[in-house]
Amino acid sequence: MSSHASLARLGVPELTRRKGAGSLVSLTAYTTPMARLADRHAELIIVGDSLGMVLYGLPSTLGVTLEMMIAHGQAVLRGSQRAVVAVDLPFGSYQASLEQAFTSAARVLAETGAQAVKLEGGVEMADTVRFLTVRGVPVLAHVGLMPQQLNALGGFRAQGRDAASAAKVRADALAMQEAGAFAVVLEGVAEPLARALTAELAIPTIGIGASPACDGQVLVSEDALGLFGDYTPRFVKRYAELLRDADAALEQYAAEVRAGAFPTLAHCFGVGKG
Ligand code: KIV
Repeated sequence: MSSHASLARLGVPELTRRKGAGSLVSLTAYTTPMARLADRHAELIIVGDSLGMVLYGLPSTLGVTLEMMIAHGQAVLRGSQRAVVAVDLPFGSYQASLEQAFTSAARVLAETGAQAVKLEGGVEMADTVRFLTVRGVPVLAHVGLMPQQLNALGGFRAQGRDAASAAKVRADALAMQEAGAFAVVLEGVAEPLARALTAELAIPTIGIGASPACDGQVLVSEDALGLFGDYTPRFVKRYAELLRDADAALEQYAAEVRAGAFPTLAHCFGVGKG
């Protein structure tokens, strides 16, 4: 049952105004069918570059292109009517210069109809976020564990566990707010820090593997539904085991075909009946 009463699409300012007014629900979607589902339950749909790993079997998000993000952004916009949609800017599409970031973001907004872009980075991306936001590009920031920095970090691990790392995550989040981001995803941020940042920041925090105290939570839909088996972060609660169920369903299909018990056209359409 949908938790959305009206079909009018939410706007970015409405999400920002939700700060402190109850938890925001966010989910990822990459396709039209998943967007239709997510749109019934979430106020914010993120077309994440995690699609590289989840849909394309890539080893990381680094190989994802702007064209892939635009194609999946278009699919998600076709499947959603209500939620704000933010599309990830992939690695290499915004770090080279302010102009490159604006050109990529403008393509995403114009070609998909999304309301916002998301990008990873903190203090070092503040000028970029300011350049985009003053030119009418709403930016969802992403700090803490930043998968696009996999090579620099040497792996995926929680951030903010020691004083130096906590100071960096805090500086990054404050820089994103100051630069005009409308909300910030805190990924893999230690609980006390995520809680403190949620209290300190005026913009909503959206946690993933952070704190239940964040202003909202996001999960990769395929993780939440048990549709992605390659790697599941420890913090993910699975609400279904759809991969397992799909495997059982296809096993039954294959068994029926092999046993000659597969329904024929005659069964379905009454071919041959008088
Ligand atoms: O790429 C992604 O799916 C994300 C979400 C975790 C928010 O960044």
